[in-house]
Amino acid sequence: MRKSCKLAREVLDTVGAAVKPGVTTDQLDEICHNATVERNSYPSPLNYNNFPKSICTSVNEVICHGIPDQRPLVDGDIVNLDVSLWFEGYHADLNETYYVGEKARNNPDLVRLVETTRQCLDLAIAHAKPGVAFKEFGNIIEKHAKTQNLGVVKTYCGHGINTLFHGAPNVPHYAKNKAVGRLAPGMTFTIEPMITATPSSRDTTWPDDWTSVTVNGAPSAQFEHTLLVTETGVEVLTARKKDSPGGPIPMPSADNEGGKADEAPTTNGTA
Ligand code: MF3
Ligand code: CO
Repeated sequence: MRKSCKLAREVLDTVGAAVKPGVTTDQLDEICHNATVERNSYPSPLNYNNFPKSICTSVNEVICHGIPDQRPLVDGDIVNLDVSLWFEGYHADLNETYYVGEKARNNPDLVRLVETTRQCLDLAIAHAKPGVAFKEFGNIIEKHAKTQNLGVVKTYCGHGINTLFHGAPNVPHYAKNKAVGRLAPGMTFTIEPMITATPSSRDTTWPDDWTSVTVNGAPSAQFEHTLLVTETGVEVLTARKKDSPGGPIPMPSADNEGGKADEAPTTNGTA
C-alpha cells in the first residue's frame, strides 16, 4: 500500500501540473494513463464497472466520477482529479480539487468552497486513531462545512481499500450516520468528502450512468487520501510532497468579502 500510494501521488502531481485554461480533460486522461503505465501500474478506473477512462475529472457542478472529454478547461473553473492505480496487487486512491486560472483563484466563493473542503478532510484525518468509530468522521466534516453554509454529499462515501478497490468499511461524510466499526492498526481506508457550495447537496446522475452532479448546479469540491491506521494515529499514504502542485491558498476573510484572494500560498503541505 505504501508503494502503490506513493506512485499514485506521483501520478496525481503529474496530471495536476498540467491543469490550465485550454487543456481538455481528455488530455489530462492521457497524461494520467501514460504516467500510470510508466510506473508498471494499471489505472484502476479503466473498465471498472464500464468506466471508460483512466481518471475521473469532475468540473464545477460535477460532484464526482466525471468522464474525461473534449471540453477545454476554462479560466474560472475548478476541476477535481481523482487518480486510482493498482500496483503489485494493491490499489491506491486519492484526489484533489484544482483552481483553473486566476479567475478561479480570485473567486471568493470558490476559494471558500475548495479550502473548506480541504480543511474538512484534514480535520477528519487529525481525529483518526485506533478506537475511533468510522461514523465519527461525518460529524467532524459536516460541522466544519456548516460553518461556511456549505452542503455535504451523502450519496458517496469513503471506503476500505487494499487488494480490493472498494471494500468495507463504508465511511460516510455526513453527520449522525450509522456506519459500523472502529479503526484498528493495519487497516487501510479512504476519506473523501464531497462538499457543495449550497446547503442543499442533492445529487443526480447523468444518463452516462457515471457523472454525478448537483441538482441545483452549484459547484462541488472534493479531496481524498488513502490512510493506514498505525498504533497511535494514521499515516497519510498519499500525502502531498513539498513540490506537489495545487495546495491551499488563503481563505477570503470576512472583511475581504467579495474581494480578491490574491496572496501567494503560505503552505504547501497537507494538515
Ligand atoms: N476513485 C473513486 C473513489 O474515490 C472511484 C472512481 S470509480 C471510477 O472511490 F470508475 F469512476 F473510476
Ligand atoms: Co475513493
